[in-house]
Amino acid sequence: AANAMWGGRFASGPDAIMTAINASIGFDQRLYAQDIAGSRAHATMLAAQGILSDNDAKAIGEGLLTVLSEIEGGKFTFSAALEDIHLNVESRLTEIIGDAGKRLHTGRSRNDQVAVDFRLWVRDQCDAAIAGLTALMQAFLAQAEAGVDWVMPGFTHLQTAQPVTWGHHMLAYVEMFARDRSRFEDARRRMNECPLGAAALAGTSFPIDRFATARALGFDRPTANSLDSVSDRDFALEFLAASSICAMHLSRFAEELVIWSSAQFRFVRLSDKWTTGSSIMPQKKNPDAAELLRAKLGRILGATVALFTIMKGLALTYSKDMQEDKEQTFDAADTLMLGLAAMTGMVSDMTANRDTLRAAAASGFSTATDLADWLVRRLGLPFRDAHHVTGTLVAMAEKAGIDLPDLMLEQMQSVHAGITAEVFEVLGVDNSVNSRMSYGGTSPVRVAEQVARWKAALA
Ligand code: ARG
Repeated sequence: AANAMWGGRFASGPDAIMTAINASIGFDQRLYAQDIAGSRAHATMLAAQGILSDNDAKAIGEGLLTVLSEIEGGKFTFSAALEDIHLNVESRLTEIIGDAGKRLHTGRSRNDQVAVDFRLWVRDQCDAAIAGLTALMQAFLAQAEAGVDWVMPGFTHLQTAQPVTWGHHMLAYVEMFARDRSRFEDARRRMNECPLGAAALAGTSFPIDRFATARALGFDRPTANSLDSVSDRDFALEFLAASSICAMHLSRFAEELVIWSSAQFRFVRLSDKWTTGSSIMPQKKNPDAAELLRAKLGRILGATVALFTIMKGLALTYSKDMQEDKEQTFDAADTLMLGLAAMTGMVSDMTANRDTLRAAAASGFSTATDLADWLVRRLGLPFRDAHHVTGTLVAMAEKAGIDLPDLMLEQMQSVHAGITAEVFEVLGVDNSVNSRMSYGGTSPVRVAEQVARWKAALA
């Protein structure tokens, strides 16, 4: 039989495979709450504008709440023949309240309907990401506060570079996740315009009030161009782009956790809650959550690329291609929220091995730059010469299998006669981090200032 919702000009129904490829109800049923909220706002506005009788609007409003509770109670039967969430809800509404249900679609199209539903959903996900990121920043901040002056090696090329502080390293992630959070805030602000009332593409001849529906649904204003309204999926792309950058940041700390929790590093101990054992090797405690977080960007970036590819080159306005936007965005959002929660748990529960961090910071000639700086400051050497002298001393120590502070003064003086015993003061890791007082530097004084700033900002 022809489709009950739009089958007027059709003599026969679709092929079974057509139904299978066309239906989105398998996934867009997730938009039921947004769809019903949009329809309720629309019906209320239609009545206020005299387009619908008050009785019909009342029946529609109550009927939609019945549909909502049926869906939430698991008593709703979704039908692929009815294609999507919009037709499923409307058809059930009409079953319940009769002819009034058929008046709901006045002055509206599924094109603006899906645009508003999906925007509402993505807007909620921005809020969830903002909340999740705030919790994650608080977890990193707590770690930073505990270890403002704990010394650890700082790396470039994953080679020992200079001593830094644990607090400084933790706050580096607070900065990254704060930028991520602001990206979701920006995206949310930009997407907060209501496409409802654009109808199919051109607007409608009914005297609707788009400002009223925009207000009712929590939007700042209606969108200003009906063609753009039904075509636009930038809001989802912005959400996905922000999610990709955020997941990339998650993957970087995940990788550090994998390295740091290994027996060779032992910088941190992950709690039992965020690790798993091996079915054959009894000693194992694997950082699975961190490994999965390292991988999850693959899915999120994949979804981002998929939606770009779906939207690329689509002539205005709506095309069915755009139905493919949802599964990608749903999966990316689910993955991101799970990832943020998992990382927050792992960071809260991890324990830094202070002594191991400190010992590692003191190895690998980590204070060579401090030595070179001392030669500049105290002996007036040009930095390039100081660099060369220090490099010679490093090679000497390396050959002897010792670290820089273990060299004897006479050995040092054989490389540069002006070196005095005072040099040993700058070869210690505490001196090294304490001296890095420049704004944004790793000195505990500076780190404590940043901790205070973030505590105030996140309070
Ligand atoms: N299920 C569709 C989607 O997700 C809703 C819009 C359908 N519009 C249409 N003219 N067929 O995009």
